[in-house]
Amino acid sequence: MDSPFLSYLRQRSEVLRVHGGRHADSAVVSTAGLVNGGRSLVQAVLPSTVQLEVGPVADVPVRLDPGQFDQLLLNLVLNARDAMPEGGTLRISVTAEAAHGAATEPEWASRDPLYAVVRVSDTGVGIDPSIRPRLFEPFFSTKGARGTGLGLAVVAEIVDRFGGAIHVESRLGAGTTFAVRLPAASESAGE
Ligand SMILES: Nc1ncnc2c1ncn2[C@@H]1O[C@H](COP(=O)(O)OP(=O)(O)OP(=O)(O)O)[C@@H](O)[C@H]1O
Ligand SMILES: [Mg+2]
Repeated sequence: MDSPFLSYLRQRSEVLRVHGGRHADSAVVSTAGLVNGGRSLVQAVLPSTVQLEVGPVADVPVRLDPGQFDQLLLNLVLNARDAMPEGGTLRISVTAEAAHGAATEPEWASRDPLYAVVRVSDTGVGIDPSIRPRLFEPFFSTKGARGTGLGLAVVAEIVDRFGGAIHVESRLGAGTTFAVRLPAASESAGE
């Protein structure tokens, strides 16, 4: 059963979906602050059988609504948790990447658009290729009465609003990684 807090977040997801985030409160924030700040929320929804590993966490300034980022992260984490009923490892990482690959050369990075890539990985059941096209469809769920099928629809909408993109990699029986690419803000966090 979900806690009252999770129910509240779910309701907020619903509101966000309906109203299209007109009241979005965006600011330039650091990815490290977002991920480290969300850590206790993430830990709180995981059973003891799921090991949480965080890192590496690159510090990239991004322009977004931190409350919506938390929702995005939480929805991905809840899905990862559900995919590991027997336990496993959930990893959250952030890397700085350039449009044409990893930003290894500083001179190139300053010329190329830079992105923060937030990855949520699990060692769970994996996703059957036959349902891949439907993952982000509102109300699509394989969880019966336990799922509303809104989690990834909300994630997709939030990512879209931030000007980002999502990539999914999965192997049946081995696990899944959701990678969310967010454009770096040109200004530094807090300025
Ligand atoms: N990490 C994952 N591993 C395996 N399957 C996943 C994963 N994430 C999503 N899925 C699949 O995608 C479906 C849709 O996910 P989504 O979050 O939109 O809905 P849900 O989790 O079923 O319900 P809700 O999020 O509303 O509680 C899930 O039912 C599940 O089949
Ligand atoms: Mg979900």
